[in-house]
Amino acid sequence: MGDVVDRGKYSHGRKVSELEQALAGYTGARHALGVNSGTDALSILLRAAGIGPGDEVIVPAFTFFASASAVTMARATPVFADITADGDYALDPASVEAAITERTKAIMPVHLFSQLADMGALLELARKHGLMVLEDSAEAIGMRWDGTHAGLLGSGGVLSFFPTKTLGALGDAGMILTDDDRIAEQASVLRHHGRMGKTIDHIAGISNLSGVSGTNSKMDDIQAAILMARLSRLDEDIARRRVLADAYTERLTGADGVLAVPRPVPRSVPSDPVFYVYLIEVEHRDALVAHLAARGIGTETYYPRTLHTQPAYAEEHGGRSHPRAEAASRRTVALPLYPDLTEAQIDTVCAAISDFYAEG
Ligand SMILES: Cc1ncc(COP(=O)(O)O)c(C=O)c1O
Repeated sequence: MGDVVDRGKYSHGRKVSELEQALAGYTGARHALGVNSGTDALSILLRAAGIGPGDEVIVPAFTFFASASAVTMARATPVFADITADGDYALDPASVEAAITERTKAIMPVHLFSQLADMGALLELARKHGLMVLEDSAEAIGMRWDGTHAGLLGSGGVLSFFPTKTLGALGDAGMILTDDDRIAEQASVLRHHGRMGKTIDHIAGISNLSGVSGTNSKMDDIQAAILMARLSRLDEDIARRRVLADAYTERLTGADGVLAVPRPVPRSVPSDPVFYVYLIEVEHRDALVAHLAARGIGTETYYPRTLHTQPAYAEEHGGRSHPRAEAASRRTVALPLYPDLTEAQIDTVCAAISDFYAEG
């Protein structure tokens, strides 16, 4: 970090290039482009892939808001589909197929919590209908489908380095991953005000020679330095997260009030889980959250309201029903999970859950 300060280049400088190279190496991406957040990465990726006005992109109803807002930011229309009943909390291929219209341009699988969407079926569907696949792989660092890293199974994907992520910065940062030279070139132009070329040394005097109206989405070098340091122990952190997840599962399987623990869906190809989040389904979710909070145990409710019922999308899409997404939004809660967590702390969390259901 000291060298970032000594060099005095704080934004899209050498550390960002080093991180881009390191993550291209880690993921196997031909191109890794640092930007300001996972949200920016998604909306720039969509525009770079040619998504625009009049296009529809199929997005799961159960995901983080940015999966859909990135489509809106690209001035296209998100169309929502339900999730599977398998426990991957990801797009259901049958529901996706039912949502395809003549305006559909892309499918956006979102890989949530600990495992990939059913990429075999979704890629096949996309091929059958001549659609692009653009992955919201913001949560999916370290997840691979038959050896190919998340984000690289279709035309491109993203990473978020929001502080809570498996690889988290001390603020916002994100990355676009793609093997497609044309998408990479276009994304590179869009992330810096339409600037062409690799360097942006004189941002104040920037000339837009591309004819494309881009944005300011530079990554901070301080964040890149932090991410480089953390990347060196990413695989260790992932392994530790898995041990902790297994410890939760051992204690919570069949416990009163617990409707489901994470269940890795068997796939036809190797796709090991990476526990970014340890998510369970429970009865009386909101009351349990309050009970745990009163005992100093923090949880997250991913995602308390489906996207098609949120105010930004309800008018157009609220009339539809996506029952599995709706059930997940009512029942799911994420328990504390980070590499420094101890098994004794897991015992405390599980005991507090058990007390809640015992008290009725
Ligand atoms: C599934 C998903 N999509 C998109 C994003 C957006 O990433 P960011 O918070 O870095 O903008 C996130 C992270 O918060 C996410 O979990």
